[in-house]
Amino acid sequence: MDLSNRVAIVTGSGRGIGRAIALKLAEVGATVVVNDIGEASPVDSVAEEIKATGGQSLAVLADVSKSQDVARLVETTVSTFGKVDILVNNAGITRDQLIMRMSDEEWDKVLSVNLRSVFLCTRAVVRHMIRQRWGRIISIASIVGLVGNPGQANYAAAKAGIIGFTRTIAKEVAARGITANAIAPGFIDTEMTQRLEEDWKQQLKKQIPLGYLGSPGDVAEAVAFLASEEARYITGQVLSVDGGMAGAWL
Ligand SMILES: NC(=O)c1ccc[n+]([C@@H]2O[C@H](COP(=O)([O-])OP(=O)(O)OC[C@H]3O[C@@H](n4cnc5c(N)ncnc54)[C@H](O)[C@@H]3O)[C@@H](O)[C@H]2O)c1
Repeated sequence: MDLSNRVAIVTGSGRGIGRAIALKLAEVGATVVVNDIGEASPVDSVAEEIKATGGQSLAVLADVSKSQDVARLVETTVSTFGKVDILVNNAGITRDQLIMRMSDEEWDKVLSVNLRSVFLCTRAVVRHMIRQRWGRIISIASIVGLVGNPGQANYAAAKAGIIGFTRTIAKEVAARGITANAIAPGFIDTEMTQRLEEDWKQQLKKQIPLGYLGSPGDVAEAVAFLASEEARYITGQVLSVDGGMAGAWL
């Protein structure tokens, strides 16, 4: 895999899976725009890490659920590096609650950060990709969007939405040399899952055929492949990176 001369934006890449994706894309030669929203996820240090290994990178703080921030993120990328070839829609949050108790705010916030952001970022990059007749849009969905999970109606709806969106965009832009795919990670060891209670984690672990949690790097490898020239004939797909977990239900 060689992504030299490719420019990538990875949303929510100040930590966790996004950070691993940013580092992996840089490792195989891409210039990477590291995006995140706040101080808890230090974009500057990820960008510095990439530069320290000889790569090109830029940190851009932006809330990807907001139209103006997304416009600034994409414009900064294009004015700094001349183009955008790869978009990885990774930013995501959870606000878990059983449906009876779920507030309007918990619903709206999760749909906004996890799904509206994918629409805003994709719309903003597609016009640049169409002009150059090459592009890769890779969105991080979830196993929860495929099989559901109690307490996560908002998150499941957003992640299932990403899958429908991806299948549609793939058809809309296929003739322009752009592919769109989703990745459905299972249970990955990040700060998002470290918050779960220990006995719930043990229960979940029993449902993973491979018997262990995935690492952010496992997701990053799949993203790098889908971003590569080698994956040119793959579009509109959902790739599970879950240790066999979804197969138990689907
Ligand atoms: N960890 C898992 O087991 C798992 C499983 C399936 C899917 N996912 C998905 O993978 C993605 C990454 O998850 P993670 O586990 O690394 O989570 P994480 O919480 O460690 O990282 C998410 C990052 O997104 C950033 N972010 C949140 N809102 C943002 C916004 N509005 N604009 C820009 N950045 C924003 C956060 O600051 C954070 O740095 C998410 O979309 C998540 O839903 C994770």
